[in-house]
Amino acid sequence: MRIIITKDYDELSKKAAEIIIGVVKNKPNAVLGLATGTTPLGLYGELKVDRDKNGTDYSKVRAVNLDEYAGLGADNKNSYAYFMRENLFNGLNIDLKNTYIENGAAADGAAECKRYDALLESLPRDIQLLGIGSNGHIAFNEPGTPFGATTHTVELAASTVKDNSRLFDSIDDVPRKAYTMGLKSIMRSRSILVLATGANKAEAVKNLVNGEITENVPASVLQLHPDCTLICDSAAAALL
Ligand code: GLP
Repeated sequence: MRIIITKDYDELSKKAAEIIIGVVKNKPNAVLGLATGTTPLGLYGELKVDRDKNGTDYSKVRAVNLDEYAGLGADNKNSYAYFMRENLFNGLNIDLKNTYIENGAAADGAAECKRYDALLESLPRDIQLLGIGSNGHIAFNEPGTPFGATTHTVELAASTVKDNSRLFDSIDDVPRKAYTMGLKSIMRSRSILVLATGANKAEAVKNLVNGEITENVPASVLQLHPDCTLICDSAAAALL
């Protein structure tokens, strides 16, 4: 694993943007695996600034997202589909038809997971962006998820519901279930870029980099990926 420690969040976001922009310039029809959460917001801001300033072209880029809350349709302002349009896609010249995410409003969850797996098979990712949960989760693969998992429905851990409640009006509004790309599918991306910021991620980062490879820490599987880069700020790197 390549590890880049930055002095702060701003530098982390700029370094991550350089990597993503490099992928797109090198391959105009690249498939980007994208993530939600607050961590990639700085990166997404940098990509939009670069698009305005330098005209980096996303017209042929395809984007697949990691996860979505079950029960929230794409127009719900707390859905990840909405988050991606608001925080990234609307600021790039990406064709929304080339952006993919699980359908949170699907009536048949099992069928939706199958549909998403087939889609992932047809769109091998050039790079997969990841944040990390304070309990070591990636996407919504909570501790205990088998490394062989493909897209599935998850019951969110209480700590994840609490962590994510800051983005909702009330903790009662946070869905308890979600769809997530599985760890097996994440590992199939050609390259992986993990971002971590702040002291509350320091323990998870320590376990990701130096911990035992165990299903109790989903992010630890990334130690087995041949092309994984971690960028973390000094607070998140404090226990390395
Ligand atoms: C959520 C998302 C993850 C994300 C994690 C960390 O649970 N499903 O993909 O990495 O939160 O979020 P944040 O970046 O806001 O700390």
